[in-house]
Amino acid sequence: MCGIVGAIAGRNISAILLEGLKRLEYRGYDSAGMAVYSAETELLDHVKRVGKVAELEAGLEEHPLPGHLGIAHTRWATHGKPEARNAHPHLSSDRIAIVHNGIIENYVALKEELIAEGYTFISDTDTEVVTHLIYRAVAKGSSLEQALRETVERLEGAYALAVIDQQQPDRMLATRMGSPLVIGVGIEENFIASDPLALLQVTDRFIYLEEGDLALISQGQIAIEDGSGNLAVREIKQFEHGHGTADKGEYRHYMLKEIYEQPAVITNVLEGRIHQGQVLEQIFGSNASELFDQVKMVQIVACGTSYNAGVVARYWIEKLAGIPCMVEVASEFRYRATVCMPGTLFITISQSGETADTLSALREAKEQDYLGFLSICNVPGSSLVRESDLSLMTNAGPEIGVASTKAFTSQLVALMLTALILARRNGYAEEEQMVANLQQLSALCEQVLALDPAIQKMAEHFVDKHHTLFLGRGTIYPVAVEGALKLKEISYIHAEAYPAGELKHGPLALVDEDMPIVAVAPNNSLLEKLLANLEEVRARGGKLFLFADSKAQVKPGDDLELITLPDVPTVMAPIIYSIPLQLLAYYVAVLKGTDVDQPRNLAKSVTVE
Ligand code: AGP
Repeated sequence: MCGIVGAIAGRNISAILLEGLKRLEYRGYDSAGMAVYSAETELLDHVKRVGKVAELEAGLEEHPLPGHLGIAHTRWATHGKPEARNAHPHLSSDRIAIVHNGIIENYVALKEELIAEGYTFISDTDTEVVTHLIYRAVAKGSSLEQALRETVERLEGAYALAVIDQQQPDRMLATRMGSPLVIGVGIEENFIASDPLALLQVTDRFIYLEEGDLALISQGQIAIEDGSGNLAVREIKQFEHGHGTADKGEYRHYMLKEIYEQPAVITNVLEGRIHQGQVLEQIFGSNASELFDQVKMVQIVACGTSYNAGVVARYWIEKLAGIPCMVEVASEFRYRATVCMPGTLFITISQSGETADTLSALREAKEQDYLGFLSICNVPGSSLVRESDLSLMTNAGPEIGVASTKAFTSQLVALMLTALILARRNGYAEEEQMVANLQQLSALCEQVLALDPAIQKMAEHFVDKHHTLFLGRGTIYPVAVEGALKLKEISYIHAEAYPAGELKHGPLALVDEDMPIVAVAPNNSLLEKLLANLEEVRARGGKLFLFADSKAQVKPGDDLELITLPDVPTVMAPIIYSIPLQLLAYYVAVLKGTDVDQPRNLAKSVTVE
């Protein structure tokens, strides 16, 4: 999704902006641009290109933009096609330049108003109205700060904005509502970005702007007003690098690196969270115990992979804690007339902590009588964490590949810790055993990763296929859904997942030799039933790709490829079995030659609705 970088310094900032954009590439985008104030010409100049940041870099070689003040952007098209004229920064009368993340919902009315006054538009974007509104206000005599404040008062929707003014090159303005924005604090230089990762080459000290904040940033000073126009004091936070660094190291793709980080990540999620075989309650926050004591029901809300983790957690919470648990995708939850039962804990799950739908669902829920709000998240200081009562960080380190891998397994471990805390209140007696199981997970992950060559070979069967079916039952059904999501998003092969028992109710009609069936079958109480479902597939000429352990006792043959996983405690199987499915999707995508880390049309952090 769109990315913002801005800088004001005593040195040339265009290389810093470019590096920042490169660091945001993982978020997904289709065009890029930069605007810089040149002290030599006293003008704002810009370069925009469709495609990758490398295209912009080539453009900057032909047309360099040296200067001490500038803003840059990667755009993920929402209003208007990926074309240079729609790329940001957008300028008004060569005086005001802005970059924008988010969506201005009332832009049509604002555009009509501006056109009636003689303003012309060169783009199809919603953003261009903002730059003209700011220009109109400064042209009428408002200060830049007043102009921005007046402008955002007219906007409906979500925005993170960075603004520069050719006539005031000693400042840069930033404001946000519904889209994240941070200030990177340097020494006699300051920066802004939509994600701290963009600025880690220049600083590790950040101010996380709050909703409605407006910051006036100069080389040596940062002044912030809150949404009511009052001076606000915002803490400077040291960036926690977490585990894993944001470079590919020896790996061909971030996704592969992140898959291979999972044994370490699982250790990290558990680190400091367990004492003498018990999960520590204070890891959720200081008032956690009191709140958990009152939980009678759980509502989980999330999107995509994080939603799939939530569905696994529902099985765990209901089985171990004996309390009802509902799970819903955030984009549906936020617009439904939901009914909140007394004593319901509202849990959001998110890798980024900035997903617009999840954040909005949390804000909607806060209008109701939920008992409390817990976020399971990978990014400390993210909006979701800041707006929740309790949080449990997944400590997975930066995840750069658009396809979530280590975020998923770390969420599952964190959700298991949550389930155990709730289960304790239900008289659950096997917490110590469960903790011991969790502590063995990392080693089991290593064993599964050793199956890499076999999975790589299996991937060859999928390259020329157009459709795939994934099957699982019980806690493994959401794992199958997650496996299908991985395959479709990076290989562009249509993949659907079904609970295997549903096969005979419709999807069996699709089964033939052109439709590979991936079945995930760890040893559990549903194994026999699942194997019977698979026989229905074989009887109809379908080719099966089975992930199972030694208990399945199935013989491979022409119609069945088998990958045998180590025996794992049943309750831990969702974590372990998700790994071979990640590897399968990865190798199919590599064989197909797709852009594994930045698949088409997708963004890492979906900060618009
Ligand atoms: C999955 O591979 C995707 N990256 C996507 O489904 C993602 O999980 C979803 O957009 C939610 O993101 P979040 O965890 O950052 O909230």
